[in-house]
Amino acid sequence: MADKPFLTDIKTLRERARQHIEKGAVTEGYTADRNTVIKLLNEALATEIVCVLRYRRHHFMASGIDAESVAAEFLQHGIDEQGHADQIAERIVQLGGEPNFNPEGLLTRSHAEYVEGVTLVDMIKEDLVAERIAIDSYREIISYVGNEDPTTRRMMEGILAVEEEHANDLVSLLEGYGGRHDTKQAASQA
Ligand SMILES: [Fe+2]
Ligand SMILES: [Fe+2]
Repeated sequence: MADKPFLTDIKTLRERARQHIEKGAVTEGYTADRNTVIKLLNEALATEIVCVLRYRRHHFMASGIDAESVAAEFLQHGIDEQGHADQIAERIVQLGGEPNFNPEGLLTRSHAEYVEGVTLVDMIKEDLVAERIAIDSYREIISYVGNEDPTTRRMMEGILAVEEEHANDLVSLLEGYGGRHDTKQAASQA
């Protein structure tokens, strides 16, 4: 073991970098299963897009029932999810894949669901469920990628941390409404 160099020597690294330069960011040292990583990232992309749509629906519906602080929170979460979708799409392209924005099959690819919800409390609960699904599935993607694609792993870790914050925000909102179902009354106290 003692004579085994820890790093690939610079000459080999430079030679490798010159071969297959059309592969861009994907070098010979990329050991992850690229197609699987791209597939998982496309599922995460679909999840984010569905979350954007659901949060925007909830934002406008909450605005309609005069629950301004909750509406503002939904809007901010939707903006965050759009940012995640963009980060993931960019990474898919870096890996030589194509981000799937096709509306057909979007819900099948997505891990999270699109539930409209009737009352404000329903909406908050559905968003919380979706965040918890995203948290679990992103954690799995992170452990799958492991050390074989640190850039994808770091990106997903950053996104996961935001989803955990989102879930926390939603729990606080739910506590604020005491889980009550009288939306109008709850909204008037917002
Ligand atoms: Fe997200
Ligand atoms: Fe989220």
